[in-house]
Amino acid sequence: MAKPCHKASSTLSHNVLVTYPTIKGSIGVTILVDLVGGYYDAGDNVKFGLPMAFTVTLLSWAAIEYGEKIASAGEYVHAMEAIKWGTDYFVKAHTQSNVLWVEVGDGETDHYCWQRPEDMTTSRRAYKIDENNPGSDAAGETAAALAAASILFRKTNPHYSQLLLHHAQELFEFGDKFRGKYDESVEVVKGYYTSVSGYMDELLWAAIWLYKATEKEEYLKYVLENAYDFGGTTWAMTEFSWDVKYAGVQAIASMLLMEEKHKKHEVILEQYRSKANHYICACLNLNNASNDNVDRTPGGLLYIRQWNNIQYVANAAFLLTVYSDHLLATNQKLQCPKGEVDSNEIFSFAKSQVDYMLGSNPMNMSYLVGYGPKYPQRVHHRGASIESYKENMGFIGCTQGFDNWYGNPKPNPNILIGALVGGPDRNDQFRDARGNYEQLEACTYNTAALVGVFARLYDLE
Ligand SMILES: *[C@@H]1O[C@H](CO)[C@@H](O)[C@H](O)[C@H]1NC(C)=O
Ligand SMILES: *[C@@H]1O[C@H](CO)[C@@H](O)[C@H](O)[C@H]1NC(C)=O
Repeated sequence: MAKPCHKASSTLSHNVLVTYPTIKGSIGVTILVDLVGGYYDAGDNVKFGLPMAFTVTLLSWAAIEYGEKIASAGEYVHAMEAIKWGTDYFVKAHTQSNVLWVEVGDGETDHYCWQRPEDMTTSRRAYKIDENNPGSDAAGETAAALAAASILFRKTNPHYSQLLLHHAQELFEFGDKFRGKYDESVEVVKGYYTSVSGYMDELLWAAIWLYKATEKEEYLKYVLENAYDFGGTTWAMTEFSWDVKYAGVQAIASMLLMEEKHKKHEVILEQYRSKANHYICACLNLNNASNDNVDRTPGGLLYIRQWNNIQYVANAAFLLTVYSDHLLATNQKLQCPKGEVDSNEIFSFAKSQVDYMLGSNPMNMSYLVGYGPKYPQRVHHRGASIESYKENMGFIGCTQGFDNWYGNPKPNPNILIGALVGGPDRNDQFRDARGNYEQLEACTYNTAALVGVFARLYDLE
């Protein structure tokens, strides 16, 4: 998710290998690891492991919470396929206990070209983390994704579920034992998916998902014993995103508190709960200090930051929805510094954010592509912005894509149905131009967050 950049780079690093399939004609290439599959993060042709894993964690969480509702909408099989497309890839990318491939391609060389994936001529070099080049954040998030997905496959495909769980446990151990930020090991990811918040949130996140998947005390113990040192019970958040998972950890930990068997851990779980409440109250504008609340646009959309702001809104809508259902099920209300709210009010607020995203906003624009009478026509996405292979079987070269398609003011030839674009600026303004990547790029984790919310809303109908 970055601007096309016409600067070629040839950085080499010791933990770099070329992946299968190799580019025809290249020399000195060894087929070492099969990394076919997985997802690009957004509109370009780089596979970034960290946001890919977060996408799969979110989708899995949605299917765990709202599986029946997704099924009643006829989408459960699709959701499971989408999850498995990710987990199959993670299993392949985890080639040894302490090795995980976390990126294929790189932002710099990728942005030199604007090509359909079918024509891609850019570097497919792959990057890994290992014992000497740690990446606890990437390992932790991948472990969380696999653990969450293993819960879903337990009934329908127990063997696969076990396989996922096995990889999740190993990855968590690897991330915990060899500590470090993955962007220090895989420097090409810097500026694209830098782990700004560090890795402690992902380690807690992995542990709590492993606890949910296994019910093994050791994982709960990890979440409790590291609660303070890792910031789980000290960080008061206003953001939940591919980088920062504290709010998610805090929400899940507070839900554990309601179960009798966890009462003995009440002290620490209460601390988690107070921080979970902080996040929910922040979204509702019910914390005392304004910098403890999330800003809003004049039209009422939560506003965190300019670039792809909608991701934070979608993530918040999901967390609020899950939390409101938890309060409803346990017959609780939420005490915020500026007042008490019930589950209905929290869910209504989440719905208002979804309504905004779908068209109830000053631009009358649905930011979900394919939905409603007016939606973005020039999504910053290579496949969508260039004629499909079916229409044009010729080769579209590296810069030819820029000349003929990227710079073309016409709407995209392909409609990327279901893509949730970055959305409006802090004043609700939106300019539908392909080069406006901050507003027009759609990321997998934007849409993933809405799956559960849509399922919950569908149920109301
Ligand atoms: C918030 O403000 C109210 C009213 O001024 C005050 O009573 C309350 O203690 C404050 N709460 C927090 C958490 O600061
Ligand atoms: C949005 O719709 C409202 C009501 O139909 C209309 O008054 C307003 O001018 C529209 N705004 C834009 C930017 O199209």
